[in-house]
Amino acid sequence: MSKNPDKYIPAFGVDRLAPLYDLIMPAVMRESTIKPHLVEQMGIKKGHRVLDLGCGTATLTILIKKAQPEAEVTGLDIDPKILEIARSKVARKGLSITLDQGLASELPYNDNSFDRVVSSLVFHHLTRENKVLAFKEIFRVIRPGGELHVADFGKPHNTLMYLISLFVRHFEETSDNINGLLPEMFRMAGFGDIEETARYMTINCTLSL
Ligand SMILES: C[S@@+](CC[C@H](N)C(=O)[O-])C[C@H]1O[C@@H](n2cnc3c(N)ncnc32)[C@H](O)[C@@H]1O
Repeated sequence: MSKNPDKYIPAFGVDRLAPLYDLIMPAVMRESTIKPHLVEQMGIKKGHRVLDLGCGTATLTILIKKAQPEAEVTGLDIDPKILEIARSKVARKGLSITLDQGLASELPYNDNSFDRVVSSLVFHHLTRENKVLAFKEIFRVIRPGGELHVADFGKPHNTLMYLISLFVRHFEETSDNINGLLPEMFRMAGFGDIEETARYMTINCTLSL
């Protein structure tokens, strides 16, 4: 039996919006600025094994593979509909990327499997309980010396972002992010050297790397 209920919040909150994801995201989340920055800070080297957790339509997964074609890149997502979109994008580009279905809180990988794990805009979809489980799972699958890189909603960094956060905090599972709790939750899962490297203004609130 699964440890967790097989429930999840899809990319735009409801299934039927999945086909619109790639049309809307670049406009609302500054995707063309933030995702390349995330890939750059990951410092991916030849031969690295990289996991994109909650890969969605695989936009970031594809950027990673293009940035370092000699890395072994895997994307994981729980939603079969979004994975279908991801698979056809990857096939169209002729890239060698593994796409797996699975839960962040129950990763289907052995201990110490990855040099880098990256996750973009996923943790605000997880309940606090599943965040805790997911962070422990990520810590388990990262090799010693490996790194986790995250882009997700963070503590508002100016008045405008604070005002937007008053609204956004009531959606999905964003409140732990907006209250600035993620760094401490990473620490409790075992991670060290936790650093906020960038903060972006978006129409949905501060986006932190
Ligand atoms: C907002 S989308 C982000 C997709 C992509 N990472 C990006 O940056 O565009 C969130 C993704 O997390 C996935 N997701 C939500 N809960 C999950 C879980 N418990 N385990 C794995 N994936 C999950 C959703 O299916 C969705 O594709």
